[in-house]
Amino acid sequence: MNIITAKNIHRKFGEGNLETHILKGIDLEVAEGEFVAIMGKSGAGKSTLMYQLSILDEPSEGEVIINGTNIIDLDEKERTTFRLNTLGYIFQNYALVPDLSSTENVMLPLLMRGLAWEEAKKTAQEVIDSVGMVEKYENLPAELSGGEQQRISIARAIAGKPKILFADEPTANLDSVSGQQVIDLMTELNKRHNQTIVMVTHEREYAMGCNRIFHMEDGLIIDVEVLRNYGRGE
Ligand SMILES: Nc1ncnc2c1ncn2[C@@H]1O[C@H](COP(=O)(O)OP(=O)(O)O)[C@@H](O)[C@H]1O
Ligand SMILES: [Mg+2]
Repeated sequence: MNIITAKNIHRKFGEGNLETHILKGIDLEVAEGEFVAIMGKSGAGKSTLMYQLSILDEPSEGEVIINGTNIIDLDEKERTTFRLNTLGYIFQNYALVPDLSSTENVMLPLLMRGLAWEEAKKTAQEVIDSVGMVEKYENLPAELSGGEQQRISIARAIAGKPKILFADEPTANLDSVSGQQVIDLMTELNKRHNQTIVMVTHEREYAMGCNRIFHMEDGLIIDVEVLRNYGRGE
C-alpha cells in the first residue's frame, strides 16, 4: 500500500511580477515501509517538496494523500493533530528546545498527545536508550555533540511511533562519522521496525541504504533510481 501519494504538486511563492514557480508538477508515491531519498542540487526544491509531503506547507495546486487521508479535507486544527499523531520530523539543525533536558525534549510531543507525565518520561527514556544515548537523560542540548543532539531529535521524532519519518538533510551539520551513525540509526529503524522514511540528502553514500532515490532538478523529479525494489510486486 502507498502511504504517500502526491499528485501534480505545484508550489508558487509571491504574486504578480514577483511570483516564482518552485515546484512544477511533482508526482510520487511511497510504499508503507519504504525508505526513500530525495537528492538534487541546492535550490532544486527538495525542502519545499518535503514541506508539502509532511504537511508543514500547502501546495498551490495538486493533492497529497497520506495514510489514506487527503490533506485537503483537513482544517488547520485537524492538520495539527494529524502531524502530531502520524508524522515525525528530523531537521538539520536538530530543533531541540535549549532549556530542556534530553528526556524533556523527547517527552514534549508525548505530553502534547495527552500521555501522563510518568508514562511520557518512561517512554522517552526507553527511546533514548534505543538510539544509543543511555546515561544522557539529563543533558541539555548544549551539553551534547551535534551527532548526539541529532540522535535525541530522532528519539523525539520516533517516540510517538509515527507512520512516516521525514528528515531534511539530517547529516548536514555533522562530521562524516556522526553522519554515518545517524544514517545507520535510520536504516536500522527502517529494517527492524518497517519505519517509512523520506530523507533529503546531499551525500550519495548516505542514500545507499534506501530503496529508491528521487532526483530533483529545478522543481521537478527528473529521475527515479531504484536501488532495492520494495513492495512493488517484485
Ligand atoms: N517561502 C519562500 N518564498 C520564496 N521562495 C522560496 C521560499 N521557500 C523556498 N523558496 C525558493 O525555492 C527554491 C527551492 O528552495 P528549497 O526547496 O529550499 O531548495 P533545496 O532544499 O533543494 O535546496 C529556492 O530558489 C528558494 O529560494
Ligand atoms: Mg533544503
